[in-house]
Amino acid sequence: MSSAHAAGAQPAGEGAYSDQPIPNNLEAFWMPFTANRDFKARPRLFSGAKGLYYTTVDGRQVLDGSAGLWCVNAGHGREKIVEAVQKQVAEMDFAPTFNWGHPKPFELASRVTAMLPQPYEHMFFTNSGSESVDTALKIALAYHRAKGEGTRTRLIGRERGYHGVGFGGISVGGMVKNRMFFGSMLGNVDHLPHTHSLEHQQHSRGQPEWGAHLADELENIVALHDASNIAAVIVEPVAGSTGVLPPPIGYLKRLREITAKHGILLIFDEVITGFGRLGTSFATEYFDVKPDLITCAKGLTSGVIPMGGVIATKEIYDAFMHGPDYAIEFFHGYTYSGHPVAAAAGLATLDIYQEEGLFQRAAELAPYFEEAVHSFEDAKNVIDTRNIGLMGAIELAPRDGAPGKRAYEAMVKAFHKGAMIRITADTIAFSPPLIAEKKHIDELVGITREVIDSLD
Ligand SMILES: Cc1ncc(COP(=O)(O)O)c(C=O)c1O
Repeated sequence: MSSAHAAGAQPAGEGAYSDQPIPNNLEAFWMPFTANRDFKARPRLFSGAKGLYYTTVDGRQVLDGSAGLWCVNAGHGREKIVEAVQKQVAEMDFAPTFNWGHPKPFELASRVTAMLPQPYEHMFFTNSGSESVDTALKIALAYHRAKGEGTRTRLIGRERGYHGVGFGGISVGGMVKNRMFFGSMLGNVDHLPHTHSLEHQQHSRGQPEWGAHLADELENIVALHDASNIAAVIVEPVAGSTGVLPPPIGYLKRLREITAKHGILLIFDEVITGFGRLGTSFATEYFDVKPDLITCAKGLTSGVIPMGGVIATKEIYDAFMHGPDYAIEFFHGYTYSGHPVAAAAGLATLDIYQEEGLFQRAAELAPYFEEAVHSFEDAKNVIDTRNIGLMGAIELAPRDGAPGKRAYEAMVKAFHKGAMIRITADTIAFSPPLIAEKKHIDELVGITREVIDSLD
């Protein structure tokens, strides 16, 4: 389909400022994380979504194999969320949360923290995962200052980590392409090694057995800089965007022990793993490891309205609550922190998770999903398969001289055959909405298999 055809499919431009209709040209929108030129030559445009399926502008159904971008956990077009948003926007569109308030974000923070075990009692709202990460890093730095340990300024991330696209997030992040074009980043940052090894973990199911010792690298970093200079370690409990890397057995516990021993904060970036992706509320519950701060976004509103947050322990929050009582305790916030419409969407989303038992449902589907992901072990060009909860990856061998091209072709072909799959370099990632049934997994596997078989 050419851009011109796509233009014909939508009446955009009517009613614009001039009398002349503006053609729906695809050029003006500079698309994020997209090969713009190829997309605009061969667009993939959706105009509707319900349940597990998108509808394309030319009326085809496309199975959502990635919950949008790991976010539409409750499935598309959920009436309860739609109604909550409509009601809220009509009732009160906006009220600030700097020095003022309105009930819904308070209720949402209480409900989210109540989903978690003690000692998580507070939540700071943002609008995205990237903002959540930068907020968490700032909380960590300011926390140490509040405690009189202002030399603790060093932040530790991990290779292959994805923590969004703010300067804080790309500094602690470990995905090369997300960093290499942008010059200087935060100073004072180190990285732990990533935990993936084809040699030791190929085709592992759930948590790999090999690799817990990689957490001990943190001791080397501490030995180099001294703990008195280190503020926090941030990791995704399951690395998602780099291609689904479940943590080795014992790895996260080890990180928690070392950070606790040295007074270093541990931050779990749960932007993907929060809200049921592993079959539990959050990964902290799944792995039974308690970080000091948890970032979230995506599933908080099932992707309907942008919203994120940072969940903090009582100890962290309390460390800020001193000084004169009229004074601001933390100089940070976004105009839309706790936006009423987003909060309304979040509350309705939590209702759906609870009423439909969606986290439990994800846990029940996970073994079937695991078999589905590992059914690709013998497929053409597949070098690894991995899974945990409802996150799965099929890694393809890169073509000589054209890394990423094989998976890109798979993504395009799958779209035309009726499935949306997410790719990163040469890895295909599956993360269906939590309402998925076995038949949807079968459909996703069937289309992906056909596509992989057809690629050279
Ligand atoms: C672990 C993690 N952190 C942060 C982000 C950034 O979120 P956003 O794109 O909402 O800024 C993502 C997005 O995929 C993520 O997976």
